[in-house]
Amino acid sequence: MDASATSKLLVSDIASVTDHVPSNYVRPISDRPNLSEVETSGDSIPLIDLQELNGPNRADVIHQLAHACSAYGFFQIKNHGVPEKTIERMMTVTREFFRQPESERVKHYSADPKKTTRLSTSFNVGTEKVSNWRDFLRLHCFPVEDFIGEWPSNPASFKEITAEYATSIRALVLTLLEAISESLGLAKDRVSNTLGKHGQHMALNYYPPCPQPDLTYGLPSHTDANLITVLLQDEVPGLQVFKDGKWIAVHPVPNTFIVNIGDQMQVISNDKYKSVHHRAIVNTDKERISIPTFYCPSLDAVVGPAQELINEKEDSPAVYRSFTYAEYYEKFWDRALADCLDLFKVPNDPKIV
Ligand code: OGA
Ligand code: NI
Repeated sequence: MDASATSKLLVSDIASVTDHVPSNYVRPISDRPNLSEVETSGDSIPLIDLQELNGPNRADVIHQLAHACSAYGFFQIKNHGVPEKTIERMMTVTREFFRQPESERVKHYSADPKKTTRLSTSFNVGTEKVSNWRDFLRLHCFPVEDFIGEWPSNPASFKEITAEYATSIRALVLTLLEAISESLGLAKDRVSNTLGKHGQHMALNYYPPCPQPDLTYGLPSHTDANLITVLLQDEVPGLQVFKDGKWIAVHPVPNTFIVNIGDQMQVISNDKYKSVHHRAIVNTDKERISIPTFYCPSLDAVVGPAQELINEKEDSPAVYRSFTYAEYYEKFWDRALADCLDLFKVPNDPKIV
């Protein structure tokens, strides 16, 4: 390992000067991507056309959502209402941000997960043992006016484009939440009403090309801590979803988003809907950009299984206790992407076991 690489904060600046993966990014043999075993052509996640949500086939779409959320925890959406131009501008400005000189990018660097706008690397450099081949800019973005002042001023159009994108994605999320509530047999505004003042974060993920992609991850297997995630990705594959004991590669489709259920939705649905493991792998010759929007409760919101879905006498007792999202979120950042849901389960009643 050469000295110039070790002194750098960001993996993008290490990747550009090394022909091997530095030892702090190398996973133990039992925890490597095993890329030859990944399913690349068979099963994939469902594709749902949201156009039909506003027509006579609404019930059919709701049914497709219920199936996707319970069987996969993941789906793709088309005709989602976010303008192509908005998507393209967001992707372009993200690429421009990461192409800026190191000196410009590191102005935003912080390892503190509590900061509402920050550039960082890996996942949580303060707690993890092995690093990940990813840099990211993480932004809180709802309400936009509370945070836009902190966002990068370079590229010059960054704030405007990101605000437009975040606003457009929020409208899409609210539509999805109504449909998902309905698919659980709940009132349309039920899920949205449990989120306090609501929160929305974005990550702009930058995965540099990697000389030995079989030794490391862009992001290792994890579930998302938030309620629901809407992921925009460029044309370079990398996302993989765990299904029936296998990793499935998700092929990027232009102008679609990938949506996945997060831990909070699993809790609210009392385990009807699944927050599924997924990971990002890297490749030797292409950089990859992905932009997840993490929609979440506000920190003060109290989350727990919806009462309507609990029946202690029958077969559906509450699986989780109630907690504030602040409590959950803190655990998530502390635990270096290890699962958190189990920490919030109601202990099994010894009389029943
Ligand atoms: C994430 C994530 C996947 C990707 O940021 O939580 O799962 O494809 N990203 O970048
Ligand atoms: Ni994720």
